[in-house]
Amino acid sequence: MVLDNRVAFITGAGGGIGSAVALALAKEGCNVVLFGGKSIEKLNKTAQKIKDIGGKVEVFSGDLTDESCMKDLFSSALNKVGKIDILINNAGMALNSAFEDTTASLFDKIMNINVRVPYILTQLALPELKKSDRASIINVASVVAHAGYAMQSAYVASKHALLGFTKSLAGEVFDKGIRVHAISPGGVYTDMVKVSRPDLTPDGMTTPEEVAEVIMFLLKHRGNAVIDEILIHRAGKTPFLI
Ligand SMILES: NC(=O)c1ccc[n+]([C@@H]2O[C@H](COP(=O)([O-])OP(=O)(O)OC[C@H]3O[C@@H](n4cnc5c(N)ncnc54)[C@H](OP(=O)(O)O)[C@@H]3O)[C@@H](O)[C@H]2O)c1
Repeated sequence: MVLDNRVAFITGAGGGIGSAVALALAKEGCNVVLFGGKSIEKLNKTAQKIKDIGGKVEVFSGDLTDESCMKDLFSSALNKVGKIDILINNAGMALNSAFEDTTASLFDKIMNINVRVPYILTQLALPELKKSDRASIINVASVVAHAGYAMQSAYVASKHALLGFTKSLAGEVFDKGIRVHAISPGGVYTDMVKVSRPDLTPDGMTTPEEVAEVIMFLLKHRGNAVIDEILIHRAGKTPFLI
C-alpha cells in the first residue's frame, strides 16, 4: 500500500468529511492522528471505527482556536507518533448570517478556525513535513472559495483566504518535495450542512465518503502531473455553475 506506515494528522475528524478521510487513510495502512475537534466523544467514535478495521490511530482533542492548546496538542502528538507525512486541514465552521448581523466577534471566530488555524498549524508541521520523502498538505476549502454567496459573507471570505494561502504555500514548498492541494467541495451532507442549511435533504448531496475518495486520490497520486485543486459540486447543481 502506497501510504503504508505514513503518519497523517487530520483536524476535525470527529464526523463528516474528516472522519471519512481518517477511515480511508487507515484502510491504506496510514497511522492516523485525529487532531483537534472540540468533542473527544466524536473523535473517539472515529477512532473506534479505525480500531475495528485493525488500523493505527491516536486521538488529540482540543479547541484549535486556542493557540497554546493547538501548540501543546501538536507537540504531544508529535512526541507520540514521531513524524508527520500528511497534514489535512479539515476542521472548519460555516455561518449563515446576514452581513449586517455578522458581528466582529463572529467574523473573528470564523476566520480563526477556517484560516488562522490551518496557517499556524501548517507552520508548526512544516519542519517535520520537510523530513518526509512524500509530504502532502490538503486544505479543505469549499466552492465558496470561488464565488460569492449571499448570507455567508464571513464564511466565503474565510475560504477565499484559505485558498489564497494554499496557492502561495504550494509554490513556496514545491521544491522541498511537499505537495499542497486544495479541495473545494460543495453540498456534502454532514452535520455542518444539517445545521447551516436545514432546507437541504440528502438527495443529490455529496457524501463525505465521496470527498474522502478524491482526497485519497490526491494523496496516492505522485506523478509528474500535479493536481493543484479539485472542485466538487453536488449532483443537484448544474455543472460548472457553483
Ligand atoms: N459539508 C459541506 O457541504 C462542505 C462544503 C465545503 C467545504 N466544507 C468544509 O469541510 C470541512 C469539514 O466540514 P464537514 O462538512 O465535515 O462538517 P463537520 O462534520 O461539522 O466537521 C467540522 C469539524 O471541524 C471541527 N471544529 C470546528 N471548530 C473547531 C475548533 N475550534 N477546534 C477543533 N475542531 C473544530 C469540528 O469538531 P467538533 O464538532 O468537535 O467541534 C468538526 O469535527 C470544513 O472545513 C468545511 O468548511 C464542507
